[in-house]
Amino acid sequence: MMQMMDLETKIAQLLAQAQADQSADWETKYLGKKGLFRQLAAQIREVEDKKLAGEKFNQLKLQLEEILSSKVNDQKADAARVQTSSPDKTVDLTLPADDKEPAGHLHPITQAIEEISDIFARLGFIRVRHPELDLDENVFERLNMAPNHPARDEWETFFVSHPGEASGKLPTWVMTPHTSNGQVHEMKRLGQPPVRMINIGRCYRRQQDATHTQMFHQFEGLLIDKGINITHLKGVLDYFAREFYGVGTKSRIRPFHFQFTEPSFEIDFSCQICGGTGEVDGQKCKFCKSGWHEVGGAGMVHPNVLRAAGIDPEIYTGFAFGWGIERTYTLRPGLNIDDIRNFYNGNLDFLQQF
Ligand code: FA5
Repeated sequence: MMQMMDLETKIAQLLAQAQADQSADWETKYLGKKGLFRQLAAQIREVEDKKLAGEKFNQLKLQLEEILSSKVNDQKADAARVQTSSPDKTVDLTLPADDKEPAGHLHPITQAIEEISDIFARLGFIRVRHPELDLDENVFERLNMAPNHPARDEWETFFVSHPGEASGKLPTWVMTPHTSNGQVHEMKRLGQPPVRMINIGRCYRRQQDATHTQMFHQFEGLLIDKGINITHLKGVLDYFAREFYGVGTKSRIRPFHFQFTEPSFEIDFSCQICGGTGEVDGQKCKFCKSGWHEVGGAGMVHPNVLRAAGIDPEIYTGFAFGWGIERTYTLRPGLNIDDIRNFYNGNLDFLQQF
């Protein structure tokens, strides 16, 4: 008869041997039909306490199976350490990845929109949105541009066909060529001043070159209240210039003409690329005109526009401005974007810089 202690010693020896064994036929050698486990288990006949011995053998079998499964895992990991065809380049697929998952980000114009909204929010201008497809009446007529007024030509508008237009009884629809229709909607929505909005939206014009796209964005500011004058407009321009372009950026207003503002101005900011000098390394700055760049128009809201909205111009005055986001953004220091079509041609190398 074999003593239980002897059996336990043999089991421990077999386990130690199995653990250290690296042979390729490990499974057959230990767990096969004629393997070492079965050979040892056959000795149960010689043990007195067969029940206890049976338990010991069950435990041993489980331990051997565990060793086997960890060996299989190790082999898989080894196989994954692939030597590539280039001898000096080893790819170890078990190592943690070097690169982070490629993450996308907001489009630069969306980022600019968020930043612009925040700047104006600090001055109490609330962001509103108005339709991109709108009635001719809101886009032109209520802005003091009667049908067939020559000033409309400036906007190179996309008119939208619809059934019934031929009869002349249904109104004309347009893709908004500017965000100034937001002025009309906001005055209608609020009824009476105070009005203090920033309307940011897409605009459409039949134009395309390095500084024009068929779809672009504008942001339109409107402030109407008692006692508003040009100095308030200038204060807002200076604040925006400083916040968006940085301390030291100047703004200037130049006389211009818009049908919906009187007086009207074009707005320039000093160029941050050439520092307002108009020259870079002795060459003419290609981003501005003599140190200034134009971002859009502004002016005091025309009395006819106030009247069309039912607001008394004898009591209330206001200013409005409308600027192109792509143009405004292009002249941010450090960006040097010389063709705004790049924003929309899907070129990831360009977009990933932002
Ligand atoms: C207007 O659209 C007026 N509604 C602005 C305004 C608002 C004046 C309120 C007075 C009071 P203008 O057509 O100049 O103005 O356009 C303003 C700006 O929009 C331009 O200076 C430019 O920055 C941008 N812009 C115009 N057309 C395009 C285009 N096709 N592509 C990119 N940006 C454009």
